[in-house]
Amino acid sequence: MTDLHSLFLPALRLLSPEAAHKATIRALALGLGPRDRVPDDPVLATTVWGLDFRNPVGLSAGFDKGGEVPDAMLAAGFGFVEAGTVTPLPQPGNPKPRLFRLTDDDAVINRLGFNGDGLAPYVERAARRRTGGRRALGPFGANLGKNKDTKDGAADYEICIEAVAPYADYLVINISSPNTPGLRSMQGREILSDLLERAIKARARAVPDANARPPLIVKIASDLEATERADIAAVVLASGVDGMTVANTTVTRPDSMTDPQKDEPGGLSGAPLFPLSLEMIGDMYRRTEGRIPIIGSGGVASGAQAYAMIRAGASLVQLYTALVFQGPGLIPRIKRDLAARLKADGFARVADAVGADQG
Ligand code: FNR
Repeated sequence: MTDLHSLFLPALRLLSPEAAHKATIRALALGLGPRDRVPDDPVLATTVWGLDFRNPVGLSAGFDKGGEVPDAMLAAGFGFVEAGTVTPLPQPGNPKPRLFRLTDDDAVINRLGFNGDGLAPYVERAARRRTGGRRALGPFGANLGKNKDTKDGAADYEICIEAVAPYADYLVINISSPNTPGLRSMQGREILSDLLERAIKARARAVPDANARPPLIVKIASDLEATERADIAAVVLASGVDGMTVANTTVTRPDSMTDPQKDEPGGLSGAPLFPLSLEMIGDMYRRTEGRIPIIGSGGVASGAQAYAMIRAGASLVQLYTALVFQGPGLIPRIKRDLAARLKADGFARVADAVGADQG
């Protein structure tokens, strides 16, 4: 699988990052994607929120914003796929260029600003997939956002939840992208509490059967101060929300960075983000006493890093940026290495290693 795609990777590098991404999605939609045909090691299987994952390594939001290719990415080896962020209405996003590959730092900066075709085609695809009868290879998460000009942000999340909840295995409230003005202020104590209350009610309206409701997860930023983290942990514990994704991109620029494009405004992802997200996973795990499953996200590029996030408190991990640099052969490599590390440390299941470093 890797040979053909490592041939493509240099060609894609010649395109602008956005053109390369578009070409990749088109190829995947045409069925030209890579396939990981090696069955996952049983040690990688895990169950979170009652959902079964054949492995805990997922694709982060932002790669498949429109939910066009989730099954192609599951076939490539991911254990789950998160599609979005989707907003109620179509919107163009920020002016181009708005996506930067920082080759020297194995990083990406994006200030896309929730560009996309809006909720209607996204829901249509998700519904078609659900009723198509084919058994999916893993859970499908819907990552939800608000339109740039919407004043009552919570209303946009309600609209998205009501439309998507019947067709998604889990829902993510994304209040942590740095490229929509005011979005991250929704992480404040009162506004978050109100948002989550309304979101939970919207989910109940969309799926009356309490046993069939998809878990609701809140995705937080990697730039939060101690007081903000404490507030979020308190609200999450009190609200009845099911999980947290820790964390989104950062607006900071770690000193280690050297790429000439490092001062482009936007959210930074990839290698320089890993230490920040790892620290924050451990911190949020402790603050929520291990009671709220965490999806770890930020700079994962190896099995060792996926394993470190799990030991810090992540029940599942996700990646995106490392795929840009390493191609799809990365997915089976990470899984193989993670399985070996779990076994070497005597863990029979992923779940037994979650939070192992927290004592
Ligand atoms: C993202 N990310 C993102 N997250 C989200 O919740 N909604 C989104 O629409 C996007 N869009 C997006 C676009 C691009 C180009 C990138 C690189 C990232 C953030 C992503 O899901 C993830 O949380 C971070 O990128 C950190 O993980 P990696 O990329 O370092 O593995």
